[in-house]
Amino acid sequence: MNRNAPIGVFDSGLGGLTVVHSIKQSLPNESIIYFGDTARVPYGAKSAKTVTHFSRQIINFLIDRGVKMVVVACNTVSALALTALKKQNSIPIIGVIEPGAEAAVKLTRNNHIGVIGTTATIQSDAYSTALKNIKSNLMISTAACPLFVPLVEEGWTDEPVSLMIAEIYLKPLSDNGVDTVILGCTHYPIIKTIIQSTLHSSVKLVDSAEAVSEKTAEILSLKDALSEPGHSDLTCYVTDLPQKFEELGERFLGEKLANVALVQLD
Ligand code: DGL
Repeated sequence: MNRNAPIGVFDSGLGGLTVVHSIKQSLPNESIIYFGDTARVPYGAKSAKTVTHFSRQIINFLIDRGVKMVVVACNTVSALALTALKKQNSIPIIGVIEPGAEAAVKLTRNNHIGVIGTTATIQSDAYSTALKNIKSNLMISTAACPLFVPLVEEGWTDEPVSLMIAEIYLKPLSDNGVDTVILGCTHYPIIKTIIQSTLHSSVKLVDSAEAVSEKTAEILSLKDALSEPGHSDLTCYVTDLPQKFEELGERFLGEKLANVALVQLD
C-alpha cells in the first residue's frame, strides 16, 4: 500500500463532508478524494439493490484514482451495501455503523441506546445488529427522521420549525429512557444542538463521523500506511451541480471548498 496515496471518502451527497472534517482533524497529513453523488441523492429512501449498484460504481471510480482505503461516509450505504462492497474489493473499506455502535456501547451507562437515521437505515436494523453483536443485553430504541436531511440542506439549523420536528421525532426516545443516542446519518451532526435540546441534557450523542475517523486512523496505523507530511489535498468529485456543492459544503466541512469537479458515472 502506498502510504501517501489518498483516502477515498464517499456519500450520497454533501453530508459525508462531516466525516471529511473529522478525518482532517485527526489525520491532518492525509490527502482525501471525496465523492458526492449529488445527482442521485437522497439514498435514504431507495432500495438495497439500487444503493449497492450506485456504491459499486463510486468505489470503482475511487479505486481507479489510486485510493489506499475507502471510508463509506454514508450511513444508508453502510447499512445496506457494506458487506457486498467489502466482498468485491481487496483494499480496506469501512463504514460508519460499527464505529458508531462501538462508541455508543462505551458511553451507555443504563444499556439503553437510541438510534436515529434515514428510513432505509432504520428499517435495515443494521445499527441494532451491530450493537447487539458487541453487547447482547442492550435495549435499543430507534426513530427514522426523514425530514432532518432536507432541513439541513435548506440551512434550517436554528429555525423554530426544525425544533418542533425534532421534538416530534425524538420525544418517544426521550420517554423510553435512552441515555445515549447515535446520530446515524451524515447530516445530523449539523443539527446536534437542536437534537440535544429535545432530549434530556444527560443524554449523550454519538457522532458517527468522529467514531469513523478514529477507526480510519487505527487501520492506517496498523497497516503502517499513514501519510507523510506534505500530502494533504482535498479533491471533490460530484455528479451534479458542483457550484451548489461548493456553497453548501462549507457548512459541513467548516471551511471553504475548492477543486470540485463534475463527473458522470454511467
Ligand atoms: N448520507 C445519507 C445517510 O447518511 C443521508 C442522505 C441520503 O438520504 O442520501 O444516511
